Amino acid sequence: MVQKEKVKKLKDKLIVALDTDDGEDIDWLSGTLIEVVPWVKIGFQAFSTLGIEAFPWLSARGHKVFLDLKFHDIPNTVARDVGMMTKHGANMINMHAAGGLEMMQTARNSADDAAYKADIPRPILLGVTILTSMDETGFQQNFGSERQLAEQVVYLAQLTQAAGLDGVVASPLEIEPIRKACGDNFLIVTPGIRPKWAETGDQRRITTPAEAINRGADYIVVGRPIIEAEDPLEAAEMILDEMREA
Ligand code: C5P
Repeated sequence: MVQKEKVKKLKDKLIVALDTDDGEDIDWLSGTLIEVVPWVKIGFQAFSTLGIEAFPWLSARGHKVFLDLKFHDIPNTVARDVGMMTKHGANMINMHAAGGLEMMQTARNSADDAAYKADIPRPILLGVTILTSMDETGFQQNFGSERQLAEQVVYLAQLTQAAGLDGVVASPLEIEPIRKACGDNFLIVTPGIRPKWAETGDQRRITTPAEAINRGADYIVVGRPIIEAEDPLEAAEMILDEMREA
């Protein structure tokens, strides 16, 4: 029973990134993966094919949908975007924390309003810190910041929390300092996950699924190691097994 509870919980911690614009692939992947994984993530590729129908369609199959469009614009625009996506049924939405405190605060208010009017739960709102494809050298080169990358991640996490969002997207390598700064009730969602048997690709600040869980990730996001596997269901099950061993 305890083991079952643990498995159920772990299933809810894995988010599969459906990074493709091929409608048939999305259909097949979601239909196959729903056996073991409730959460799926759709970005621009899948959204450009499915549009807002993605939400009722995927949720009718039992999926929860993380809309990964990483909003970053003036507060008024992001508030409207987030309100609209809330109304249509996204279960998790992210925005760049670098868009600023006001942008994130107005987005939160807009999601509250839209959820209230539609009589649905408010989606989980996340701030994206620094992309997991960027290492320290890339960070210094592109941002010219006086801070180290890890310090900037913690700074942005605190800004996200101050704005009233629920958590951040960050590398598994930054979980510990974020937890220390933002506490246990702040969600940490980590892409940059690579099982030992998978290719690294363009990701830089990475760990294995087990290590991310051990470090305290609330959700892990995995794309290519599952969707490009010969047998995506088996790959997802192998990752869940690794998470179980953590
Ligand atoms: O294929 P892979 O497992 O690298 O996919 C990771 C997913 O998480 C991609 O959809 C990517 O856009 C997303 N992501 C990320 N790093 C962030 C935020 C989102 O890799 N900081």
